[in-house]
Amino acid sequence: MHVVVTSDVDAYAADLLVGKWDSIRVLGLATGSTPVNVYGRLIQRYYDGTISFRSKRTFNLDEYLGLAPNHPQSYRATMVRELMQYVDLPDDRFHVPPGISDDYDAACTAYEDDIRAAGGVDLWVLGVGVDGHIAFNEVGSAGASRTRVVGLAASTVAANAKYFDDPDEMPTQAITAGVATIMDAREVLLLAKGDAKANAIAKAVCGDETADTPASWLQGHGNCTFVLDRAAAAGIISLVGADATEASGATGRVHSLEMLG
Ligand code: PGA
Repeated sequence: MHVVVTSDVDAYAADLLVGKWDSIRVLGLATGSTPVNVYGRLIQRYYDGTISFRSKRTFNLDEYLGLAPNHPQSYRATMVRELMQYVDLPDDRFHVPPGISDDYDAACTAYEDDIRAAGGVDLWVLGVGVDGHIAFNEVGSAGASRTRVVGLAASTVAANAKYFDDPDEMPTQAITAGVATIMDAREVLLLAKGDAKANAIAKAVCGDETADTPASWLQGHGNCTFVLDRAAAAGIISLVGADATEASGATGRVHSLEMLG
């Protein structure tokens, strides 16, 4: 794992994506507040002619169970609002797990099959929850987990209910790509900002690889970068010091650490 600490997570992530744009055929995406400004920067690069989505295919991590695609808080609608409506990605190349299905098991299998049929995800952009969840892989999610229906942790429900006009409308279940689905991506880019994430990030990078902190499974990914602001990196820095160039996980894996200021 490579850990980058920067004062501008959005610019770093957008530049990284644009820099390798031609090699990304299949892009994994996340909803949530963290990547929104990265998407804004990609839209700018699309408008200035630097990049196109025309030949890309995208897979989102997750969707709320029970929300129709056109529900304003569905992750599909959110992605359309934040990115897809502005760029030239063909509709049939934009994939989000279905929030409503007659057969969720079949829908989960189909999502995995669709990713495989597309040739796998080249790079998956991730956020992380304050408890270390990735996608809706809540605490307790096994490293071998695949796309499935999950119950949401009370902390996740509390964190996301603010986006609903009526907080009681906030779903308590979701359909999510699994940890193994994410680990299959050829590259993973996890973004985190703010001190609320510092503890989860420290455990994910310096702790055990454990279902107690689902993001910690990423220590075992051969091509994973965490891009953090100083606040989100504070837990790591307090463990290894501000001048460190490496941080080790509890199982002994050594991660490179780059402080860009
Ligand atoms: P956030 O959510 O980007 O809104 O902080 C991340 C997550 O819960 O995975």
